Order: sequence, then structure tokens, then C-alpha cells
Amino acid sequence: MQKSLHLLLVASTCQAAVFVPGTWTLDQQGLTGVSAILMTVVSENKVVVLDRVEHNALQVDGHVAWATELDRINTTLRPLDPTSNTWCSTGGFLSNGTMISTGGNPVVITGDNGLQAVRLFTPCDDNTCDFWENQNTTRLTSKRWYPSSLRVQDGSIMIMGGSFDQAYFNNVTYNNPTYEFFPPKNINGFNGTQIPIQLLIDSEGANQFPNMHLLPDGNIFMAANNRSILFDWRTNTEIKRLPFIPNGVKISSPFSGSAVLLPLNPENNYQPEIFICGGSDLPDFEPLSFYTINDPASNQCLRMTLTPEGIQKGWEVEHMPQGRTMLNMNLLPDGRVVIVNGAQSGIAAYDTVSDRVGESNAANPAFQAVVYNPSAPSGQRFSTDGIPVSTIARMYHSVATLTPFGDIMLAGSNPNADVSILPPFPTEYRVEFLAPPYIVEDRPTYNGLPQTIPYGSDFKLSVHLPPNTTSVSVSLMDLGFSTHGVTMDQRLVKLLVTLSTDHRSVVISAPPNANIYPPGPAYLFLLTDKGVPSIAKKTIIGTGESPPVDWAASANLLLATPAAVLNYSDPTL
Ligand SMILES: *[C@@H]1O[C@H](CO)[C@@H](O)[C@H](O)[C@H]1NC(C)=O
Ligand SMILES: *[C@@H]1O[C@H](CO)[C@@H](O)[C@H](O)[C@H]1NC(C)=O
Ligand SMILES: *[C@@H]1O[C@H](CO)[C@@H](O)[C@H](O)[C@H]1NC(C)=O
Ligand SMILES: *[C@@H]1O[C@H](CO)[C@@H](O)[C@H](O)[C@H]1NC(C)=O
Ligand SMILES: *[C@@H]1O[C@H](CO)[C@@H](O)[C@H](O)[C@H]1NC(C)=O
Ligand SMILES: *[C@@H]1O[C@H](CO)[C@@H](O)[C@H](O)[C@H]1NC(C)=O
Ligand SMILES: *[C@@H]1O[C@H](CO)[C@@H](O)[C@H](O)[C@H]1NC(C)=O
Ligand SMILES: *[C@@H]1O[C@H](CO)[C@@H](O)[C@H](O)[C@H]1NC(C)=O
Repeated sequence: MQKSLHLLLVASTCQAAVFVPGTWTLDQQGLTGVSAILMTVVSENKVVVLDRVEHNALQVDGHVAWATELDRINTTLRPLDPTSNTWCSTGGFLSNGTMISTGGNPVVITGDNGLQAVRLFTPCDDNTCDFWENQNTTRLTSKRWYPSSLRVQDGSIMIMGGSFDQAYFNNVTYNNPTYEFFPPKNINGFNGTQIPIQLLIDSEGANQFPNMHLLPDGNIFMAANNRSILFDWRTNTEIKRLPFIPNGVKISSPFSGSAVLLPLNPENNYQPEIFICGGSDLPDFEPLSFYTINDPASNQCLRMTLTPEGIQKGWEVEHMPQGRTMLNMNLLPDGRVVIVNGAQSGIAAYDTVSDRVGESNAANPAFQAVVYNPSAPSGQRFSTDGIPVSTIARMYHSVATLTPFGDIMLAGSNPNADVSILPPFPTEYRVEFLAPPYIVEDRPTYNGLPQTIPYGSDFKLSVHLPPNTTSVSVSLMDLGFSTHGVTMDQRLVKLLVTLSTDHRSVVISAPPNANIYPPGPAYLFLLTDKGVPSIAKKTIIGTGESPPVDWAASANLLLATPAAVLNYSDPTL
């Protein structure tokens, strides 16, 4: 009786996530070679890891390496050679599949100043690709350390906020309350130059690495510090200011909560719902001696449906089993959210709080991953059942991403000023894979995924389904770009699918437009009615063409922006 009532309730609220119960696995496998401050999947088998310029043993072209490409199938590691310092930069993919990494930090050991860098990386299968960078011709209009980014509807990338230079709390001297695009745009009266945004002025303080998500109406949800807004980049308009993050919690770096846009589903007309967890209820701008490694992190999670009715209802507050800062949140193909990494107390960065342990500003590693089922009844959504506890602390500068195999890759942690063997939180190169129970099931497979998929089109795949499969679903995913708890561009869109009567093929409807899935790389998971996903293959949504280029705006950016000082070195870093 109770069970059927529960099912009824679930069905009436949101799409029930169907998933395979059982035991998860956690395997340590391979090394990153450099400390993983940033990480992104670049192809079905390959992952790029970015560090800052620091004393890794790994060398490239006669100097220390600060980037690698890992090959999951061949279990090889290849050093990459960006020329500028990628420290606390951001990244994402353009509509043509090229990855860009933007912003960074002045050099300390070798290489160029990365504050205004634009680095391009086009993934390849033959191990020959590397970063291309030339700040004489291609750079940001503005210095950005700790920025975020978002791919928008025309396949270009919006780069948001950050600091002009080293700032613990982003004060008026260091706060960069502007955004810009790559490729540069002439838009709303700004000819390639940076555009002010009020949210980043009002959120001064803990507002680094703001969270941004593209919504199905074409606006952006954006959160920084304890504030959030709906924003239209096309008109440079703040559409709506949302209620404050409740209970004094701040969610941006250095308090470092995390957020995901829950799966978008055509069956409820892509109703967007945002889910935010962790952070800290500490005030910002206190003297650094005020903060300690034992200040508890927030266990608060928040949900809001971003419709007029949902906003009227306000934030729904829930609680994780433990407090968490510097956490990562990854969507699974079955629609659940996995919460990993981070610490239960303290704050981000290193060498600033008075009672630091080693150099870390945080203690009490959050070793236990938690899974969240958004469609379960309130109070029954978090679970740690069957999930092994890690023994590897992943504190400041750690990352996580879903892989095309369907498991979660965990890497990094280096709450130290340089490569360090100092306990308890040394530079961590070991990689772990956290795999949900579905990984060992008989999994569906498919063939025939087009290389590019136009909006509104239907396409056919041949499929091989496990016995007794009665229906299938499709999750189209952007696996995102992970750094500092923020996974830029992470997205799951359910696609409408029809299974043939002989169960040998499916016809899938592409996303209807670029607001639902902005043009660019995507990974397609085919799932059984039991929630078992295939391994994903990569495609490009849209035409695969490059984003629009406005040469006059680029020329004006170069004229208006002081030439980057390429070999600046700040002795205080
Ligand atoms: C890596 O593995 C793939 C798939 O097995 C294979 O096709 C490719 O040749 C391998 N590449 C290298 C460089 O070993
Ligand atoms: C940028 O310009 C400087 C000064 O003209 C030159 O020395 C340098 O080689 C140029 N860099 C690149 C990557 O072309
Ligand atoms: C901002 O912080 C920096 C570093 O602590 C400091 O040098 C600067 O004076 C501060 N600016 C203001 C306006 O307080
Ligand atoms: C939001 O944060 C600011 C400081 O960054 C603080 O002064 C203000 O009280 C906070 N507001 C709420 C409602 O928590
Ligand atoms: C398929 O379903 C039948 C009937 O319920 C059952 O006997 C059989 O074991 C199932 N096969 C598999 C592979 O699950
Ligand atoms: C993608 O577009 C960017 C920006 O125009 C360009 O620099 C890059 O070369 C393009 N990549 C490919 C693979 O065409
Ligand atoms: C943008 O700047 C370029 C270079 O200064 C200039 O040629 C162009 O006319 C400007 N465009 C507009 C619309 O002002
Ligand atoms: C780069 O560094 C060299 C050596 O310290 C110095 O002579 C030169 O002026 C610097 N260039 C710039 C653009 O700062």
C-alpha cells in the first residue's frame, strides 16, 4: 500500500530516476603525472589534466610539465605543453569541438603569465595534439584568476569573473566584476571588451568560480557567494534576482560549494531545476586568523525549480549526511547525482588559516561519496548504501568527472604551495574510479551515432540490448570541465526515443534547439528500463562549425587591452 502511494507521488512530481541497486566499487588505477587542479574528458578514451606551474617530476620540452593527457584504454600518459600558467583557470569546449582553457596566473618557475591566456586544444586520436597559444594575437581582454565559463547558444564561450591578481577574498582591488566571450563579440555596446555585471559587484568577497548554467529559455542561472540571478547575456540584462542562499551559507570559492542543473526532460517541457550543495556559513572578509581548519563545512543542499511558481516557493532545504566544502557533484546517466571529494571542515586554499595542518586550510577529508536521487521522496534522497569509503584525501585542488564508461574519475588534491610530500595532505597523483553497480551489468551497446547531430533531427542507431529489456531511454550528456568544485557546462538532457518492435534499432530525436543543449561535444548513453547505461560515444550537437568570429571585435580587444606582460613574476606567490 505504502509502496504504491510512494510511486504515485513520485510520478506526479518529477521523472523517477530508475537505477540499479547494489554494491559500488572504488579502484585506484593510474597516476595523473601532474597535480589535477583541472580535468576534462576530451574524447571517448582520453582525459586532459591541468595543473599550475610547479615542481612536478614529469618534464616536457626541457622544463617541468603542468599538463597531461591520460589514455584510459592504453593506460598511457602524455605530457602536454601549454606555454602559460594554467593555475586556477577555467575551460570548456567550443561548438567545433576545440577545447579552450582561459585565464590563469602569473608565472613562478617557467612559462608565460596566464592571467589573460586563451589556450586552444583540439582533441586527436594520434597523440600529436597539444595546446596552441599566442597572446600577441589571441588573449582575454581582462586578467582572470579564478574565473568560470559557460558555452552559450552560438557555440562560443562566456568567461565570467575572477580576480586581477592574488586575492583571498575578492575585494574591490582584485575583484573582476565583468565577463567577456571567446571568440570576442561586439555586443550591447562593448566592442570585444569586458562587460560589467552587477552580481559580481554585489557578491564581492567569496565570489570566485561562480556557478553558471544555461537554461531552456536561453537565460543563465548564475550564483556567486550568497546570491543568485537569472541573466540574459544576449541583452546584458539581469532578469531576476533570486532569494539569498539561506541560513548564511556562501557557496563560492574559498567556501566552495557545488551545483548541478538536474536532468532536463522533454516530458515536463525541460523544466529546469537547480541543485546546490555544501559551502560554509562563515562570514567573508574576516582577518585570516579568524578561520580555522575545524570550522564545520555546511551540510546544506538546496533545490529550486526555475519557473515563476518554483521561484515563488523559494529554496527547498535538505541536508547531506555530512558537511562538505570543496566537493564535486557529478550527474550520472541514470539521473542521480554523485557527491565526492572535499573536506568536512575548514576552507579552500592553503597557508592562510592560523592553525593549518601541513599547509592545508581544511581538515577532516570527506572520504565517503554520497549519491542523491532527485526523484525520491524528500528525506530519502541521500544514500551511502553500498558505496566504499576512500582512503585518499581529496582536499583543495581536487577534481572529479563522469567518464564515457559511466564511472566517476577522481583525481587531485594539493593543498600546498608547491609539490609536497608533507603529511597529512601531500600532492596526490593517484587516480580512483568510483563505479556504480550498473558497471558490471550486461550493458546495452549501440552503433551508428552520427558525427554531428542537427537540432530537431531524428537519427537511427542499431542497438544490442540485454535480454528482457522492455524499453530504453537516452541521456545526452556534456561531461563538463571540473575545477574547484565547479563543473563548467555539465548537463544531462533526456532525448525522446522509439524502440523498434524487433528491439534492434532506435530512433532518437535530437535536442530541439541550442537553448536545450548548446552546440558542441556531447556523449550519448543508451539506458535500459532497469537503468543500465551503455558506454557513451562522442558526437557533436549542431553542425560542428566554429562559433562566430568578429574580427573587428578581436582587433578592438587587442587595441583596447594593454598587451599582456608575459614574464611577470610576483615574488609573493
Ligand atoms: C590505443 O588504444 C586504441 C584502442 O584499443 C588503439 O586503437 C590505438 O592504436 C592505441 N594507441 C596507442 C598510441 O597505443
Ligand atoms: C609575441 O611578440 C613578441 C614581441 O614582438 C615576440 O618576441 C614573441 O615571439 C611573440 N610571441 C609569439 C608566440 O609569437
Ligand atoms: C584587497 O586585498 C589586498 C590583499 O590583501 C590588499 O592589498 C588591498 O589593499 C585590498 N583592497 C582594499 C580596498 O581593501
Ligand atoms: C551575504 O553576504 C554578505 C557578505 O558577502 C553579507 O554581508 C550579507 O549579510 C549576506 N546576506 C545574507 C542574507 O546572508
Ligand atoms: C528474463 O525474464 C525471465 C522471465 O521473467 C526470467 O526467467 C529470466 O531469468 C530473465 N533473464 C535474464 C537474463 O534476466
Ligand atoms: C574552432 O573555433 C576556434 C575559434 O574560431 C578556432 O580557433 C579553432 O581552430 C576551431 N577548431 C577547429 C577544429 O576548427
Ligand atoms: C570595433 O572596433 C574596431 C577596431 O577598433 C573598429 O574597426 C570597428 O568599427 C568597431 N566596431 C564598432 C561597431 O564600433
Ligand atoms: C621579461 O624579463 C626580462 C628579464 O627579467 C626583462 O628584462 C624584461 O623587461 C621583461 N619583459 C617584460 C615585458 O616584462
